[in-house]
Amino acid sequence: MKRHGAMVHRLAHGSFKAVRRVRLPLAPPKNSQESELIGLSGGSMNYIGSKLSLLPQISRVLDLSDVPPYGIALDIFAGTGVVSQLLKARGHTVYSNDWQYYSYLTCAALIECDSIPEFEKLLSDYEWGMRIREATSSTSLFPTCSYGSGKRFMSGSPATAVLSYLSRLAGEKGAFYEAYCEGGSGNRQYFSRENGMRIQAIRDQIEQWSKDKLILGAERAWLISGLLEGADKVANTASVYGAFLKHIKKSARKPLQLYAIDPVRSTDATAQHRAFCADAETLLRKLREIKLRLIYIDPPYNSRQYNANYHILETIARWDLENFTPRGVTGLRSADENVSEYCSKRHVENAFRRLFQLANAEFVLFSYNDEGLLPREGLEALFSDYCTDIAFYEIPYRRFRADSNGENRNYKRDSTHEFLVLGRLSATNDTQTESAYLHRTPALA
Ligand SMILES: C[S@@+](CC[C@H](N)C(=O)[O-])C[C@H]1O[C@@H](n2cnc3c(N)ncnc32)[C@H](O)[C@@H]1O
Repeated sequence: MKRHGAMVHRLAHGSFKAVRRVRLPLAPPKNSQESELIGLSGGSMNYIGSKLSLLPQISRVLDLSDVPPYGIALDIFAGTGVVSQLLKARGHTVYSNDWQYYSYLTCAALIECDSIPEFEKLLSDYEWGMRIREATSSTSLFPTCSYGSGKRFMSGSPATAVLSYLSRLAGEKGAFYEAYCEGGSGNRQYFSRENGMRIQAIRDQIEQWSKDKLILGAERAWLISGLLEGADKVANTASVYGAFLKHIKKSARKPLQLYAIDPVRSTDATAQHRAFCADAETLLRKLREIKLRLIYIDPPYNSRQYNANYHILETIARWDLENFTPRGVTGLRSADENVSEYCSKRHVENAFRRLFQLANAEFVLFSYNDEGLLPREGLEALFSDYCTDIAFYEIPYRRFRADSNGENRNYKRDSTHEFLVLGRLSATNDTQTESAYLHRTPALA
């Protein structure tokens, strides 16, 4: 690693390791690549723990490191996928994983797609091609699509036509509308009546095209993730989906827009990027034979489970209301679905230790903060036990507020410190040779 300001720090467990302690300012992005990434569509959601505003620091930490900008990088808790995009732009073959299905679909759209889909099969179908073209040739239509970075998404493209067709569908009633929207039988109002009925119609149509094999897996992921981003913008919540508001707020009355996800292009045309929807530990067991260059670990840091906070997005993504009955006033999904050990003070340390033991990677980069369930000393001990060449970066950071007006929460502090810890995983077996870095696609079920 590039040496600057190295100092020896006594870590827990009595060992001495060379640890570089660096305070990074939360500065505006420096170079155009970073600015472009931050402006990209996809990942713009106000998501707990999103690293969107930390991308410049993550990028800088990698630039200061010895991590080569190629080989497989696994973003194992990918959330919105913004760090996966950064790693893709950096030159890595990216494996992106999250066990929430909405996140998986978003990452599939951002990572597995290398350009905006063409919808060839759908548009070459005689009936659908006519219908979509007819609907989109009308001029008296309100703008419905957001064009992401706007650079590559041309009006008149096949994707514009498909998004325009979907966004003009007449709203309809159905299981999602009834369970979660204003006027529905579930008495919940996560969405206004109009937006709820449009979400129902659009998501039904995407599912039907998929069942009829008129759209491919990546096209389905691209359409659903564009719907998720749009739905999140007009949700009638304070921010997350743990509760809905009693009255429909102004922004929730705005018409739903569909988002055009604009994927980052690969620097290496042969790279086989992959999105996974798996428990982190289970995935590492399956990937054991594959040597990773880097594993980026950005786990939940407190006891707030993502399954409860984003259950509505999960249901829009899975579209599986025939399989469960929404629970209670807020309409949660099954109580035992995706309950994370990383959100439990009792389990978190052992869960992290297992991840480090299972990781067949050369480098590990870990995001955490000073209010995490595992205290700073525990994090240092973890790195001390499994890594060498440790660099500990500390960044002052504005707190994520679930309720942006802060009325319902009594925060002790407005800011917190983010940690970025980079280390070289100690070699555990003789598979850790350069030849093992060949880009290979894992044989996963
Ligand atoms: C802090 S967020 C990641 C944020 C992400 N880096 C971003 O910038 O958007 C943590 C993520 O871990 C996921 N997660 C929690 N437990 C998991 C598990 N056992 N396996 C896989 N993903 C998990 C959550 O669904 C959530 O998306």
